[in-house]
Parts: sequence; structure tokens; C-alpha cells
Amino acid sequence: MSKIKNICCIGAGYVGGPTMAVIAAKCPEIKVTIVDLNAARIAAWNDENLDNLPVYEPGLDAIVAQARGRNLFFSTEVEKAIDEAEMIFISVNTPTKTYGLGKGKAADLKFIELCARQIASVAKSDKIVVEKSTLPVRTAEAIRSILDNTGNGVKFQILSNPEFLAEGTAIDDLLHPDRVLIGGDSDEEGQEAIDALVNIYANWIPTERILTTNVWSSELSKLTANAFLAQRVSSINAMSELCEKTGADINEVARAIGMDSRIGSKFLKSSVGFGGSCFQKDILNLVYIAKSYGLDEVADYWEQVIIMNDHQKRRFAANIVKTLYNTVSGKKITFLGWAFKKDTNDTRESAAIYVADDLLLEQANIAVYDPKVEETQIHADLDYLDTRRKKENRKGVTTFNDPYEAVKDAHAIAVLTEWDEFKGYDWQRIYDNMKKPAFVFDGRNLLDGQKLREIGFVFQSIGK
Ligand code: UDX
Ligand code: UDX
Repeated sequence: MSKIKNICCIGAGYVGGPTMAVIAAKCPEIKVTIVDLNAARIAAWNDENLDNLPVYEPGLDAIVAQARGRNLFFSTEVEKAIDEAEMIFISVNTPTKTYGLGKGKAADLKFIELCARQIASVAKSDKIVVEKSTLPVRTAEAIRSILDNTGNGVKFQILSNPEFLAEGTAIDDLLHPDRVLIGGDSDEEGQEAIDALVNIYANWIPTERILTTNVWSSELSKLTANAFLAQRVSSINAMSELCEKTGADINEVARAIGMDSRIGSKFLKSSVGFGGSCFQKDILNLVYIAKSYGLDEVADYWEQVIIMNDHQKRRFAANIVKTLYNTVSGKKITFLGWAFKKDTNDTRESAAIYVADDLLLEQANIAVYDPKVEETQIHADLDYLDTRRKKENRKGVTTFNDPYEAVKDAHAIAVLTEWDEFKGYDWQRIYDNMKKPAFVFDGRNLLDGQKLREIGFVFQSIGK
């Protein structure tokens, strides 16, 4: 079955949606159906108005417009899509467990298991099942056991094909990936399945960029890549605190070390802390796996990356309180940005959530402006932390559609996301409308501090 004609993807999220849209756009002869339990999400993917797609990614609308209705379909009919497909991608979420054994660390695999059971019960012909979700090492084994023991006697091949796209640049990352990783079994049937997936990607990716490995290496490579990237951010953030004490400038340090070709210049931007659905979850996963094998030193080593990140978020909030004369009670503090990075509407694990939580504990009034994040999401993020009653989150946090309204009468502005548009604002106008002294805390090293100080702002930036 090396020529695939029908693909099904379970999970129409930030990963499944853009990935399948690009496969459909690049392989017009393959029918790609993305299914999801969430009917509202599917309806949004099918919305005539491309501004209403549930995922915001630069360039995604054009790709969807090109393929949707031709060979790209969004549906809630999970079983029908599984039945028709020769290849099924599992791209459902794998959040950190919030209960039981491994609570707060291990990945919750209940959605993955549900998918495997559903595939097993529906499948009447041989299928290739592709793990797209980031999973703890050796999950493929669990999927295989469920498929083989609960299926209808058909044959399943399991591949691991981890995602390396970063949100905000997903389409570009999918069109021009550094590499595509495919893990599979080394026997003949495993190799056939690997070839079937290689042939799909080879429609637009040079074959030397398509790496094939065994399943475990593939699964572990994904966790390792995210752990290394997050570690770089925590490393530069650790140095940012030292810079603030010593008079060194973190941007200058980052530039200097980044020019060493052994280190490289990427992922050296100090910030209020990394967020996103992957870094923390994957490292916690790694820590859990290492611990479960009794590798305490390995576990502690990686856990420190998370500890540093939590510290960076907390000290940003603490510094705001300290600088505003040790009290923010009743003061309006405006957040520019809520998303975990620019060019996405995703807020999962965004540093903004934790900084807001700390400032709400100090009874601040928080105003938020983010070009892409909705008010309901902001409230949901805070409710999820469960620090206080929902009513209080709504009272403490107000969102605005106009940044100039958001900053009116504010005591301070905190930049939480590096949206480009913030740089182009009329900062004189902003200054004129704020309480004095007017403070700016730049959590992203985004703004021109010299210019802002000339206007009259008290300006502070991470690592300076
Ligand atoms: C998720 C994981 O977070 C990430 O680790 C993995 O690499 C890829 O999948 P993402 O696409 O960003 O990433 O998640 P999300 O946007 O939450 O989308 C998952 C979708 O799966 C949701 O729309 C959810 O409704 C759907 N889902 C979940 C199902 O259709 N069936 C289920 O059983 C569970
Ligand atoms: C990450 C990986 O990059 C991607 O390969 C994987 O598939 C999923 O996880 P993502 O979480 O979408 O992607 O975004 P990324 O660009 O990695 O940023 C993660 C967080 O780190 C963001 O909050 C970002 O603002 C922060 N970051 C990144 C920094 O603070 N400094 C940097 O230099 C880079």
C-alpha cells in the first residue's frame, strides 16, 4: 500500500490543521480529511470567511482557500474518515496530567488511547497510523498493543512523525522544514509504511531532508529538540538576571555569543519566560521518564530549565510591584500582548497568564490589549489556574480592542508579547495619557528604550 490516496487526521488543532492543509495543498491527488470531536472548531475551519479560522497563522488562510473543498475536508464524522483512510495521523492534544500518578509531570494519554481504540474498532482494512502528537517515549508500543488486541484482525503499521513547526511561522516551517523525521519498524512492512509517508513529503521536500529512524529515536528526538531549545531560553534568561546586577547588557552578550558559530544566534532572546503548549510539557515529560528509570541526575538537570523559567516570570511581576513603590493595589497596569509569542492567537502557558496572576494577587487592575487574542480566552486562561473565583478574574482584568484606550490612565505598561505593531505606536500620545511617572516594563526587549526615556517614560527591560 505504498501509494496513499486517502488521509485522515484526528485533531484539528494548531498542529493538525496547518500540517494537513499544507499536505493537501502540495498533494492534490490525495484526499485529506481532518476530523475533530469539537463541532464548533470544525465549523470554524469550514467558515466561508477565512478570518474566522480557529487557528491564526500567517499564510494559513491562503493555503486553506487553495485546497478546501478540493481535496481538503473538515468534518466531525470521525469513524467515516478513519474507515476511508489508508493513513491516519493522530494529532490530538496530550496535556500534562492533572490527576493521579505523574500528576503535574507525565503526559495525559487518554485522548491518544481513545483514538487508538476508535481506529481499532472501525478499521476494516490495513492502516498506517502516524503519531503526530508529541508523546512520551515508547507510546507507539501502547498504541500497537491496543490496535493489535482490540482490532478486527487487520494489520496496523505505526510510525512516529513528530512536528517541528513553531507557531507563528507554521506554514513556512511546513513548506521549508530543516528536516522531517519519520520513525518506523525496520522489518519489510515497517519499511513500506515509512516509504509511503516519505513519498508524501517528497512531493515538496528534498529527500535528503527526510530522515528515517527507529520509532523510539524519533519520539525521543522531539522531546530532546524542545528540551534543548527551552534550555537555551532559560540559559539566556539566567544570564539576564546577572546582567541586571552587573551593568552588562543581555542583548550585547547574546549578540557576542551568537556569533560563535558553535553556539549560533537563534533562541538567544531573553524574555519574560517561554510559553507555548510544548516546551514545559515536553520537559516535564522528559523529567518524568528519566525519574521512572531511576535517572535522578538526568531528571534534575532538565527540571532546572523549568525552575529557571518559573523564576523569570515571577521576578518580572515582582519587579513591577517593587518599582511601583511596593504597591500596585488599585493601579491600572496595561499588558501589551497576551499570546505566548507574536503572530499567533495561542495563549497556552503564556507568561502573561502567570504575571497577571501574580499582579492580581497584589490587587492590581489589569488592562489587556492583544491584536489576536479574544477576551473569553484571557478569562479562561486565568480561570484555569484556579487561583481565585471567576467573578474576581473578570473584575480584575479588562480587555480592550484599541491599544490607546487600554493604556489610558495606566500607571504602567508591561510588554508581554513581541508583536511588531507595538514598536510603531505613537508613544508620545501614550505617555500623555498615562499617570505620571509613566512606567514601561519591556518583557521582550522589543522597544527602543532610549526613545521612550527621552519622551519621559521610566523604562526597564529584561537583562539591562
Ligand atoms: C497537540 C499537542 O498539544 C502537541 O503536543 C502535539 O504535538 C500535537 O497535538 P495542538 O494541535 O496544538 O497540539 O493541540 P490542540 O490545538 O489542542 O488540538 C487538538 C485537537 O484534538 C482539539 O481540537 C481537540 O478537540 C481534538 N481532539 C482531542 C479530538 O478530536 N479527539 C480527542 O479524543 C481529543
Ligand atoms: C516549539 C518548537 O520551536 C517547535 O519546533 C515544536 O514543534 C513546538 O514547540 P513553539 O512553542 O510554537 O514551538 O514556539 P517557539 O518559537 O519555540 O517559542 C517558544 C517560547 O519561547 C515562546 O514563548 C517564545 O517567546 C520563547 N522564546 C523563544 C524566547 O523567549 N526567546 C527565544 O529566543 C526564543
